[in-house]
Amino acid sequence: MEKIHSESGEVLIKVSPLINYSKFGLRSNPDAVPQPLHVKTAEHQVEKQTELSPLHDFMGKLRQPEVLENLKEYVRWQVQWREGYAADAMTLEQALESAPRHAPVSINLDVTTACNYRCDHCVDMDILNKNINYEHELLKDSLTQLVNHGLRSVIIIGGGEPTAYKGFEDVVRHLKAMDVQIGVVTNGSMMRKIHAVADVFQKRDWVRLSLDSGTNETFRAMHKPGSKKCTLEWICEHIPPIKQLNPELMIGFSYIIVWQDCETNDTGIIENVDEMVAAARLAKQHRFDYISYKPFLTRSELNNAEVVGIEKRQEHVASTMAKIRNAIHEAQKLEDENFAVVESTNLRVLENGTYMNYSQQPHNCHMQYFRQVVSPLGIFNCPVYRHVPQALIGGKHAYATPDSLLTAQRNTLRLIETFDATEECKDVTCLYNHANWFIEDLINHPEKLDQLGASFDRADYFL
Ligand SMILES: C[S@@+](CC[C@H](N)C(=O)[O-])C[C@H]1O[C@@H](n2cnc3c(N)ncnc32)[C@H](O)[C@@H]1O
Ligand code: SF4
Repeated sequence: MEKIHSESGEVLIKVSPLINYSKFGLRSNPDAVPQPLHVKTAEHQVEKQTELSPLHDFMGKLRQPEVLENLKEYVRWQVQWREGYAADAMTLEQALESAPRHAPVSINLDVTTACNYRCDHCVDMDILNKNINYEHELLKDSLTQLVNHGLRSVIIIGGGEPTAYKGFEDVVRHLKAMDVQIGVVTNGSMMRKIHAVADVFQKRDWVRLSLDSGTNETFRAMHKPGSKKCTLEWICEHIPPIKQLNPELMIGFSYIIVWQDCETNDTGIIENVDEMVAAARLAKQHRFDYISYKPFLTRSELNNAEVVGIEKRQEHVASTMAKIRNAIHEAQKLEDENFAVVESTNLRVLENGTYMNYSQQPHNCHMQYFRQVVSPLGIFNCPVYRHVPQALIGGKHAYATPDSLLTAQRNTLRLIETFDATEECKDVTCLYNHANWFIEDLINHPEKLDQLGASFDRADYFL
């Protein structure tokens, strides 16, 4: 196992060295057969897609009129590169010369690693409070560059608490001035900062509070907020005034379900299955638009990827699932035109046993071209691999100037070639799985590109 170090010298993450560099440059053995690429049948993809909510229909989102040409350019480039490689006529570096110059369509933006909570279940515990920061103006330059090259949506989240960043309001206003769609994931402790920017949010923008409980006792035990005044009720009381100020802003109550046997950060953690319905009542009462239930994730020992924290060998899986199902049924009774209960795809496929389908990825993960993580710890290829070294595309300001942006674009394409998703992501219930296979199929059947028309414009660019 390798370790990397932050700029301040601390160990950040343990990694396993799985990167295969063999596709850099011409193959050394001219007799070697080009690596076969996995292609699955169209039926297989359609079958998988039926389980996905529209929120996770990334294939449909990438076919929207405004991004379809971006997708086609990427596919055409892959076709050209693979043909050149198979004929031993092109190195990757040569292929990169004619690569498309698009930025990702969507990013997860970690504005800070600082956090004022100590959630026992936090999947990002290892990277919190690293005291590694952006230079604010360079961060804004990066966002401007990205937008100029096709960025359409930003989820402001962490590794850290977004509202703890002193430039939070400025970043939100900067993005909205460029007409970028925004989602914010917050722990809710500084709702005054959300209130301060509530006027700029538009219809498709959203704010999601990670509250995970139905009683203040459980809330505080799970999250360990620094301040005494920070109670579950107090946080929820901030929602009605914000909704009044901007009824278009969608506000969600996020509930990570933690059950008996869940472990992370080397410790047992507080269970909350029994409070799922109470939380839904609280959410509705305080004018949240929805409550979303998701399963607990943990980090893979293999490569630090985020993976669903359940194993079939756990004794209580069946009874836990039954309890969760009952709670969701109860919560659904509260649904009306202003309040929805959202069950994550992760949870649904976990329950119906199809989650293993989502762990068979093609070798090349194409989604890293369209969606990335920008963090003070660097640019990473996937939210599952925040701050994992084999997923690193560049430094935190890699998108700040035209030259460094070009390098980052090329690094992205290099990483697509060298990051073996079949191996790296074999334990991940990857919600991008169907989109990756769809793109892989287009690359292997480029004749389909001519027939590939735009889907309807859902004006949703979150990936
Ligand atoms: C790491 S937090 C950072 C953003 C912000 N500080 C917050 O708490 O919402 C991002 C999201 O990850 C979720 N999360 C944290 N630990 C998790 C885990 N073990 N499994 C699933 N989701 C988790 C949180 O509930 C939150 O919605
Ligand atoms: S295959 Fe899925 S989990 Fe793996 S890097 Fe790509 S998007 Fe992330």
